[in-house]
Amino acid sequence: MSPLRLAVLISGRGSNLLAIDDACRDGRLDARIVFVGSDRAAAGLEAARARGLPALQLDAKGFATRAGHEAALREAIDAAGADWVALAGYMRVLGEPFVAHYAGRMLNIHPSLLPRHKGLHTHRRVLEAGDRWHGASVHFVTSELDAGPVVLQGRVPVVAGDDEARLSARVQACEHIIYLRVLQWIASGRLVYRDGPWLDGQPLRAPIVEDFLDTEADAAR
Ligand code: GRF
Repeated sequence: MSPLRLAVLISGRGSNLLAIDDACRDGRLDARIVFVGSDRAAAGLEAARARGLPALQLDAKGFATRAGHEAALREAIDAAGADWVALAGYMRVLGEPFVAHYAGRMLNIHPSLLPRHKGLHTHRRVLEAGDRWHGASVHFVTSELDAGPVVLQGRVPVVAGDDEARLSARVQACEHIIYLRVLQWIASGRLVYRDGPWLDGQPLRAPIVEDFLDTEADAAR
């Protein structure tokens, strides 16, 4: 198979983007990032440019409609020849035509164990709910927010003394691993989408769940 051509959409720091790019560069992932897009000024965009990645800031403000903004974004992604889109902290909800255009070839990473805690402020909500476990989910994007089929989840423990910052750092460390793993499955042809995700020739009926216990949290347990 030829290397995957990836578009990555961000709005912030871009730590997932950089983890994916690291893996492309050192050969752990048979892929190339051909486009980085952000809807706002973002540290991740600057970091991408510093690495020589093609990076575009496309603010929605410059467009009269959401549809217009997304059509321009789609054109830029397709012009770069991307065959997959990875959302990595992209903070805008995408409309139906955009989602339909990339159906079965667009992934997102969400910082919770979906379907628990869809939407924003997941770390805070986990702490408020007193959950014992938290984590992240890599899922295919459908038009319903944070509701597309989940492929892989990484679980981390919530421990006494956690605050949002500690918890989010623990979740992010696991995000970088699970996003890469799913992309590796795609790049090697193990994961395909045919009316839903298939892994190793079998329909994936439930997410694969991996526990990440070897964090600093272990020591605190
Ligand atoms: C991640 O926590 C991701 O789960 C969420 O947004 C955050 C992006 O972080 N969707 P980064 O920009 O990749 O550092």
